[in-house]
Amino acid sequence: MMEDLKIPRHIAIIMDGNGRWARQRGMPRIMGHYRGAEVAEDIVKYCADLGVEYLTLFAFSTENWKRPKEEVELLFELLRNYLTQKKEELIKERVRLKFIGRRDRIGKDLRRLMEELERDTAEDFRITVILAVDYGGRDDILRAVNKVMRLEFDHVDEDTFSYFLDLGEIPDPDLMIRTAGEKRISNFLLWNLAYTELYFTDVCWPDFTKEELLKAIEDYSRRKRKFGRVLDE
Ligand code: FPP
Repeated sequence: MMEDLKIPRHIAIIMDGNGRWARQRGMPRIMGHYRGAEVAEDIVKYCADLGVEYLTLFAFSTENWKRPKEEVELLFELLRNYLTQKKEELIKERVRLKFIGRRDRIGKDLRRLMEELERDTAEDFRITVILAVDYGGRDDILRAVNKVMRLEFDHVDEDTFSYFLDLGEIPDPDLMIRTAGEKRISNFLLWNLAYTELYFTDVCWPDFTKEELLKAIEDYSRRKRKFGRVLDE
């Protein structure tokens, strides 16, 4: 089996189930997010070792603002602390960081930190990790439409339009993984997931491991991607 592995060039993940994982253990939900951040770190390193070029992680959606204020604040604090503490390690591990999503609703300090990390990790890298923060697929498309209108284009084709989306020139995800049993896109990369292979697992994100990732990639390797064509028999 292993020799037939096709490594996706771009993997996108909805890291779901942190809250449930914590509650099942009688812990506050935020503990699930803490554990989730550690798992994300492991998966980044493993993807880099496998030769995955791009990994997009859904950290906070445009809808997540509707959560209790305390959870929202703790999530952003976790993100801020994580990014501050891990900067050197990201550089050492040669991880380039990019952010997608709105930047107008998050604090100035975090925004500065995000820009600093994007700048300081851009030199020498083996994987690009794209963190989706205050990201929504519809919001992404609408922001792109508004950019196009401001430039007074009277026609755009798919390639040109894609360029205005947050992922810009980054190739579409080949594989999208969602953990914790829900089978939805939940306003993640709506445009870019058009032909992406979808993989769902019941495992909650804090329990996600290298082995689970490998299962997803094995499953992906067996799929025949057609992109709307007929495959030769
Ligand atoms: C979904 O679980 C998870 C989130 C909304 C946040 C994901 C964020 C992290 C894993 C931390 C990211 C930080 C870094 C540094 C990558 P949920 O809360 O919706 O779980 P539930 O569905 O069980 O309630």
